[in-house]
Amino acid sequence: MYVDLSKPRERRVTCIAQLSDIHVRPHGVLYEDAVDSNAMFLAAVNSLNRVRPEPDLIVISGDLTDEGTEDEYRKLRELLAGISRPFVVIPGNHDNRDRLRTAFPDHEWLPTTGPLSFALDVGDVRLVALDTSVPGLHHGELDVESLAWLDTELAEHRGQAVVIVMHHPPFMTGIPYLDIYGLRNADAFATVLSRHNNVDRILAGHVHRSMQTRLGSVPVITCPSTATQIALRVEAHAQPASFLEPPAYMLHRWTGRNQPAVSHLCYVGRFQGPLPFA
Ligand SMILES: [Fe+2]
Repeated sequence: MYVDLSKPRERRVTCIAQLSDIHVRPHGVLYEDAVDSNAMFLAAVNSLNRVRPEPDLIVISGDLTDEGTEDEYRKLRELLAGISRPFVVIPGNHDNRDRLRTAFPDHEWLPTTGPLSFALDVGDVRLVALDTSVPGLHHGELDVESLAWLDTELAEHRGQAVVIVMHHPPFMTGIPYLDIYGLRNADAFATVLSRHNNVDRILAGHVHRSMQTRLGSVPVITCPSTATQIALRVEAHAQPASFLEPPAYMLHRWTGRNQPAVSHLCYVGRFQGPLPFA
């Protein structure tokens, strides 16, 4: 299906849906030996398919697979066949750049070498997808070329709202076992941002929880996982753990050209209601 993402549909609302950390496993294999992350991803996709008006674009912000194997990317493509809207993907620390590239030959915006960063227009909004992954390692880092490319991209789109999507969030979470795998050069990223005023918000994944903060004056928002959520443990010697808290995705909606987006957290599941609204 070809969709011209530069043309906003009805009114001038732009909606980008975000799924994150879906950790697809080979057929029949459980994630962390405990949960069916493939089924949980499908449940999120089914929920997203019911959103009206439909999002212009769906972005999956990394950890598409759990081990970056060909088997997992094959399964991922199979599961993505159920998604009813155009989508883009970026890698996380559990992905493999080369296998990801090979699995998505139809995503012609993916660079053929190096980090899988790209940019495209979605309605009035410029989406800048930054590959923060470091092959073979779990922390994040942006190389010099990526930072220079971002600087140029932001300068060339002065006056247009930009949303940056990246796997590793550019801040310390306060959860010690997450922060050792954080974005190592968040300061260099912040320096680039400080030269521009057109970044509406930064969207990230990686932390398997909903968090909000700012980088300078720019809001930074993380999206929960569609599988497991990482425990909120902030003690210095906290032990890593995950829980089956409600999975979720996000909808980021720009309702006017000069309006900041409103970001909505949407839980996946069946909940009692609708109840009378008074
Ligand atoms: Fe993850």
